[in-house]
Formats: sequence, structure tokens, C-alpha cells
Amino acid sequence: MPVSRPTMPFPEQALSPRDFAFLSRLVYERSRICLGPEHRPLVASRLARHLRSLGCAGFSDYCAILDAPTGTDEIEFLIDTITTNHTHFFRERAHFELLAGHLLPTLGPRAATAGRPLRIWSAAAASGEEPYSLAIVMAEFARRHPLPAWRVFASDISRRMVERCRLGIYEAGKVALPTADLLPRYFRRGFGPREGYYRVRPEIRRAVTVEAVNLFQDPYPVPEALDVVFCRNVMIYFDAPSRAQLVGRLFEQLAPGGYLVIGHTESLLDLRHPFSQLSPSVYTRPL
Ligand SMILES: C[S@@+](CC[C@H](N)C(=O)[O-])C[C@H]1O[C@@H](n2cnc3c(N)ncnc32)[C@H](O)[C@@H]1O
Repeated sequence: MPVSRPTMPFPEQALSPRDFAFLSRLVYERSRICLGPEHRPLVASRLARHLRSLGCAGFSDYCAILDAPTGTDEIEFLIDTITTNHTHFFRERAHFELLAGHLLPTLGPRAATAGRPLRIWSAAAASGEEPYSLAIVMAEFARRHPLPAWRVFASDISRRMVERCRLGIYEAGKVALPTADLLPRYFRRGFGPREGYYRVRPEIRRAVTVEAVNLFQDPYPVPEALDVVFCRNVMIYFDAPSRAQLVGRLFEQLAPGGYLVIGHTESLLDLRHPFSQLSPSVYTRPL
């Protein structure tokens, strides 16, 4: 008689401290995301269904798959599953107002004088709401003021997020924009099977280059001499040495006079870094 494998519910207890240590070490090595013991239940619950779909009898089986030379795709899945991708359009609105009101009026002429496009990088873009918000700000600014050619680069470590960002399709209820006129100007309403969704208009999607990038890879596949880097709500997942390394890399990636914007709840206070601080979450590379 065939022996069927027990279908375990994979409760938190089923993820042993040893297997959790293996998973958290792997996640740290690949992404620098720190998983403390308090994350064990979260990791167990996020992976449970996937383990069942793979037919694993438990987490030790899963660790063995990851550890095998063929485990590369599975490691990507693990990183996708572990990352927290919460975001929304115009999140932390003050940063977008600062960009339109104070940064673009000086950065635009500077890029024009240098004879190059203005370049902004959304370095932990998640599903794309941040880079498309940036592109909308740029397009709106360009309607009223002279602005050289511009591009937004969007990237994330999660392949799943990169795909969603490229698609640029969002549930209607989630497309909350600062003013009502922006919706028809920058989004197309879905019909038929896409009823209830909006898609970013092609001219804006074309202005945004989307790629999978690990913030700890070297080199970055984005241009140097960037004008602005939005690296928001991702450093909270990294330890101090990783944040220091990242901030140093972002400094090098910016043009002199360029800006680094981090999340409102983040801080560089505990790090040695070469930036000048403009406000708690906005830094500049001195000219
Ligand atoms: C909470 S979201 C932030 C989204 C957006 N920046 C915002 O503020 O709304 C954090 C994103 O960082 C990404 N991330 C985590 N570690 C990363 C790494 N090492 N390299 C690139 N992206 C990473 C995650 O995949 C996730 O989509």
C-alpha cells in the first residue's frame, strides 16, 4: 500500500532553531536582511504553503533543497517570500513636494548645463508605486517649467516585485493621488477582465526603467552621476555595517549636489557618512 506523506500544518514549532538559523544566514548572505529570533513565526507562516506545494515533509527538507547546487531558483523564491513589500502612491508625501518645490528647480538646470538627462533612482521600488509617483512628479513639473530629458530607474531585489513594477497595473482603490486630475492624465482605466484596475500610461512606463537589483551587488546597473536616490523604508531591515556600506555606495552613485532620500522612520544618525544633512530624511552629496 502506498505510504502517503503526512500533511503537516507547519506550525512555528516545526521550524527548528537550527533550520531557522540556516534560513536566516542564507537570507542575510543574499540580501543583508536581518532575521532575528522574533521573526521565526513569520518565516514559518510565510513559507508553510510553499513547503506543502513542494511536497516537503518539513523545514529540514526545504533547507536541503536550498542547500543543493540546484537551489538557486528556490533561494530567489525565499528572498521574494521574506521581503516586506508594503508601499503606496505618494507615500510620505512631503518627499514628493520637496522634489517638485525645491530639488527639481536646481537639479534641472544643472543637468541641462551638463548636457545630460536628469536621473532619479528608486532603489527599493517594491511594486512600483514609488517610481511611478516620481515619474508623475517629473512629468507634472515638466508641464509647467523647463526641464531637460529625464528618466526614473526603478529596482528591487524581489523578482516578483520587479514584474509587478514593470506591469504597472494597480487596483483602483489603491491609486490614491494628491489631486483628481492626475488619475486620467497618468492612468488608463481597465475594462472587461481588467475592470477595477488602472494601468500607468505607456508614456510614463517608458520613462521608467525597471530592473532586479540587489543593493549589495557591485556594480549597480544604473548610471552614475544620479541626481536623486530614493532609498526609503528598506534600511530598517539591515544592520549598521550593511547600512554604512550601502550609504557609502549611494554617495558614490550620486552626482555632486545630488540628494539621498530615506524613509521618515529611518536615520543615518548612528553611521559615519560623507553626506550633509538637509532634514531628518534628506541628505546631499556636497558640491
Ligand atoms: C517596504 S518596501 C519599500 C518600498 C518603497 N521604497 C516605499 O518606501 O514605499 C522595501 C523593499 O525593499 C526591498 N529590498 C529588501 N532588501 C533588498 C536588497 N538587498 N536590495 C534591493 N531591494 C531590497 C524589498 O524587496 C521591498 O520591496
